[in-house]
Formats: sequence, C-alpha cells, structure tokens
Amino acid sequence: MATTLTPILSAFWDDPASWTLDTYTRHGGYRALDKALGMEPAAIIQAVKDSSLRGRGGAGFPTGMKWSFMAPPDGGPRYLVVNADESEPGTCKDVPLMMANPHVLIEGVAISSFAIGCEHAFIYLRGEVVHVYRRLLRAVEEAYAAGHLGKNVHGTGVTLDITVHAGAGAYICGEETALLDSLEGRRGQPRSKPPFPGVAGLYARPSSVNNVESIASVPGIILEGVDWFTGMGTEKSTGFGLFSLSGHVKNPGQFEAPLGITLRELLDMAGGMRDPDKALKFWTPGGSSTPLFTAEHLDVPLDFESVGAAGSMLGTRALQIFDETVCVVRAVDRWTEFYKHESCGKCTPCREGTWWLKQITGRLERGEGTEEDIDKLLDLCDNILGRSFCALADGATSPIMSSIQYFRDEYIAHLTPRGCPFDRHASTLFA
Ligand code: NAI
Repeated sequence: MATTLTPILSAFWDDPASWTLDTYTRHGGYRALDKALGMEPAAIIQAVKDSSLRGRGGAGFPTGMKWSFMAPPDGGPRYLVVNADESEPGTCKDVPLMMANPHVLIEGVAISSFAIGCEHAFIYLRGEVVHVYRRLLRAVEEAYAAGHLGKNVHGTGVTLDITVHAGAGAYICGEETALLDSLEGRRGQPRSKPPFPGVAGLYARPSSVNNVESIASVPGIILEGVDWFTGMGTEKSTGFGLFSLSGHVKNPGQFEAPLGITLRELLDMAGGMRDPDKALKFWTPGGSSTPLFTAEHLDVPLDFESVGAAGSMLGTRALQIFDETVCVVRAVDRWTEFYKHESCGKCTPCREGTWWLKQITGRLERGEGTEEDIDKLLDLCDNILGRSFCALADGATSPIMSSIQYFRDEYIAHLTPRGCPFDRHASTLFA
C-alpha cells in the first residue's frame, strides 16, 4: 500500500488488519506513551522543539514552538485539536494513514495532550470519509478498553478523552480557525488572527491545532529520540514525510521518505511516467495551492527551504504529475472553479476575486479570451494575494500565476478562434 524508504508511519500498512490495536502493539505501539508519561510535560515539548518537526499540514510551522506559544495553564481546560480535514486538491496522505494505522495518531494525541496539559482532545475529520470516521471510532474504543485513554491512562492518574468529530465537507473548515468555529457548532469561517488558537482557540480556551501527520510523528520522536529524527531529512527540514504521487505516474500512491528527496527519485520509486513516451509537463509540489513546477524542477530537493528557493512551497507534498497531453489552461481553469466554489464568502477579495478569476480562466479556456485577459488575471492575482482573510484565495492565485510564468505561450495559443489547441481525448486525466 505504501512504498517506503523510512518505514515509520507506513511500516506495516501491508499487514493484514494493520489498523487493529493487536497489530499496533505487536509492532511496539504505545511504548512511546509509557515513556512520555514518565517524563515532565515540558521535556516532551522540548524534545519536539529540538527535533525541529515542522507542521505537516502544509504551512510547516514548528510544532514544538506552536505548543510553547500556548497561554500558560490557569486551571481551565486546554485543547488539542487534530486537523484531519484533508481537502487540498491532490492531497491524500492523512486518510490512508488513518485507515492503515489509526493507533499511531491516537498514541500521538495521547502524548501531545499530556505535554500541553489537555484532558480532552478532538479529531476533526473531513465529513465525506465515513469509512475513516468508523475506523477512528473503533480504534478510539479499542484504546479506551486497553487503558491508553480514559480517566487513568496507563494507571498514572492522567485523564484523556478523545472525541472524533466529522465535519460536513467544506474545504474552508481545514483552515484552523474555521475548523474551530465548525467544531463549536457554527458555520465554518476563518477568525481573525491574532489571537492565535494557542491563546484563544476552541471555546476561547488555549488550543493547539495540529495536522494528523504531525501528531503521528510524535511517538517516534519520543521513543527513538531527537537524534534519530534529525538524522533524517535536511538540516532545517528534519525527519520524514508521506509524499503522495498522483496523475500520469505508473504506480501512484504513498511514498514515505526523508524530506529532501527529489521528484526524480520518487518517480523512479513509482515506476516512472505512466506512458514513458510522454514527457512530464508540469506538477504541483504540495497540492494545487502551491505554485506549479515543470520538468526543470525534477531535481529540486523536496524540503521547505529548497522548494521555497525554487519559487514554490512544499505544502502537503501532494505531487500531482501532468504529462504533455494535458492543457495547462484547462487544468488551471478546473482548479480555479474549485477555489471559487469553496470560497466561504466572508471577505471580498476572495469571494469576488475567485469569481472573477474563474470568469477569465473559463473564457480563455473556451477560446473566447483576449491577450489583455492574461494580464488582467495577473493583476487580479496581485490584488488578491495577501489581502484576503485566510490562505484560501492566496492558494487560488498560485496555479494561475505560475502557469502564466511558465506557459504564457499556451495561454496565447488559446486566443485563436479554435480555442484550446489540445486534443481533449488524448489526455487521460480530464477526459
Ligand atoms: P499559517 O502560516 O498562517 O499558520 C500555520 C500555523 O502556525 C497555524 O497553526 C498558526 O496558528 C500557527 N502560527 C503562525 N504564526 C503564529 C504565531 N505568530 N504564533 C502562534 N502560532 C502561529 O498557515 P495556515 O493558514 O494555517 O495554513 C496554510 C497552509 O495550509 C498552506 O500553505 C497549504 O499548504 C495548507 N493547506 C493544507 C490543506 C490540507 O488539506 N492539508 C488544505 C489547504 C491548505
């Protein structure tokens, strides 16, 4: 189910019933929790800080630093909220992780909650994935029955309850403050930051919102140690991660590898392009919200710094591969439709901006645009970028601006009366 250079999160996904407590325990599961419960909470936070683990949800904010930014304990509740609302186009790492190994997440939640002083944690799951919801509920039940959760975790007197909550399937609810609103029972819309959730989060209490994979990486750091973790990856982007390959690739799926691996190496692991006679044309390093890369970028190390220096973002490591049969204008138009549809409508640059972007990409794709439209798109993007309430609209501008940067000629080719020069039936992705 997964190909791995660093068999950690995906080590035993191929075992029969890999998701059960029995399997997890057989592979050493919940030993990290034992060790953590014997440590001072502050020492756990320090270990995660020293590991330089950066958030795996896309933004890459240092996890230990996020925890240490939480308001100091005042006797009231504090919350850990796991963001399992994975919805970025192309992103499909947290769902398989939770399906194949839900207990590594639960153990991570238990350790992280103990570290930050949380007695009630939430896992906010994307609503459409009912099969994952059932699997998590069952795993949480198993963990309670075995004493890994509840009023007396491992007999230490520590309390931890976990509530798994399924949202209703809105992309915006993956934005951490919209997620908190949704969890509180309101319509999910982003809140203004600051205050960050660490100061006023769920029910206005200090909260940490962390991605599934970030929290699932914590047991390994506690059990194996900081040096083990920092021995993988690069100096500043330490550790390993799940890379999701999709599109025109022979064997799409999950590839667990150290940060800093390149797409060329990952493609080798995935058997190459689906049709070896078709050249790679463009790809996303971290979902559609990250600027596109081309064949020139095959050797860019996939770590936060190198991808940034090459003009994009590591994001969610959702590598969507498109070969030469794909019309980039059509792909961008399709993504823009997504952002327009998912805009929550709270702020004008996003609500109006994504609507206008879609009008223009649509008419360009249909062959009804003008050369002026291409510059109008760039001007609109310039007016949206950094001016919207959250990162959704910024994400919408990424594929547009980068595709014009690399494929302006292709936009121009759409201006002829015939419109799109591509044979739609030649592409197996947008047929
Ligand atoms: P952000 O950079 O604003 O924040 C990242 C995290 O750091 C948040 O938890 C925030 O509270 C915390 N933070 C930032 N500055 C802080 C400070 N001064 N003090 C305390 N905490 C601070 O990014 P955001 O908007 O949370 O996420 C954007 C990213 O999400 C994008 O880069 C994209 O890759 C990713 N994304 C992932 C999706 C998925 O399905 N996993 C979906 C859509 C976007």
